[in-house]
Amino acid sequence: MTLRAILEKTNLTYLFLGGKGGVGKTISASAIGIKLTKYFNRVLIVSTDPAHSLSDCFDQDLSGGEPVRIDGVEGNLYGMELEAEKGMADLQRISSLNVPGMGAYPGMDNTMESNPFFGGNTTTDEFGEEQMNMQDALGLGSDLMGGGASLPPGSDEAFAFGKLLEFIEDSDYDVVIFDTAPTGHTLRLLSLPDFLDSFVGRMIKMRMKLGNLFEAIKGMFGGRQEKDQSLEMLESLKQVITKARIELADDAKTEFIPVMIPTMMALYETERLLNTLRDYGIPVEHLIINQLIPENIDCPFCSKRYKIQEKTMLTIKQYFNQYDLVKVPMLPQEIRGIDQLKMLAEILFKEENEEELFP
Ligand SMILES: Nc1ncnc2c1ncn2[C@@H]1O[C@H](COP(=O)(O)OP(=O)(O)OP(=O)(O)O)[C@@H](O)[C@H]1O
Ligand SMILES: [Mg+2]
Repeated sequence: MTLRAILEKTNLTYLFLGGKGGVGKTISASAIGIKLTKYFNRVLIVSTDPAHSLSDCFDQDLSGGEPVRIDGVEGNLYGMELEAEKGMADLQRISSLNVPGMGAYPGMDNTMESNPFFGGNTTTDEFGEEQMNMQDALGLGSDLMGGGASLPPGSDEAFAFGKLLEFIEDSDYDVVIFDTAPTGHTLRLLSLPDFLDSFVGRMIKMRMKLGNLFEAIKGMFGGRQEKDQSLEMLESLKQVITKARIELADDAKTEFIPVMIPTMMALYETERLLNTLRDYGIPVEHLIINQLIPENIDCPFCSKRYKIQEKTMLTIKQYFNQYDLVKVPMLPQEIRGIDQLKMLAEILFKEENEEELFP
């Protein structure tokens, strides 16, 4: 079996490569990227792995945080390495209320108490006046104000992913290939409306209520009416994520390709990944089985490994019989640079009727 069916998907938009460490996600994403430029006008490969290796794979610096055109490929192939920490910083910036001098406004306590949205603790200041503890009042816990610990797990990744989708939406790439698939957290955010509504929705509501309150207070004291841009950011993020949820479940637009090696441990891990993807409705059609060793009767070590591999392959075929298994041999050299990647692409996309190297 091969990946040729992907080339027929004219509406293909998102391709994900996922799997255990070191199984060949980056080289597969890169080889697929090169091949797709023959069928699609503009293709982008995005690496979200903190330990980036996309640059090493292409032997070109792709670390600037912006798409870079990849040299030596005939079509329009771009690569980009992203930092997840940047997503976290952005998230903290917009989730912090950042309203200086809040407690200093006279009459603040009354305003708060009359507002059903507030109901939290108050503290007494040096003059014996009650001061509202904003975070507690909002029932958010202190960390939402900057520390991040009370945000739902995976929020930083999810946020970074949402921002990435927003960026993709605004640019004109036909296909975007994700090297290092988003983890379960991100998938959960994209797949569970409840999670989305309780997180982004709650922040939007909170900001709207606070925004109105502050506008009113600022107005009373002659302050300038400033537009709350973080609210807009959150709203557009929510829209992007909602749209992405639909697109990621659309098998004409999205395909997730798990990459694995022929070992039992990789098999169990892949099974868990497939279950998660199934739960979230993310389409899977192919599995890449990489690093298959060829039979070699002259080498006792190799033939022993080959025998074990033969057995494991039987189990893999039983477990994953509804998927197209795309087999890739272990090559004698490291796969790096355009020429090697093109060779890998030939293997991944070879004609269906070509003889199988591994039965
Ligand atoms: N079939 C193969 N033949 C020869 N070398 C291979 C093969 N598959 C992978 N490699 C080599 O194994 C290494 C790991 O591959 P790659 O970086 O694509 O894995 P990865 O899944 O992206 O790893 P990570 O989880 O660390 O990001 C690379 O040096 C690559 O050249
Ligand atoms: Mg990698």
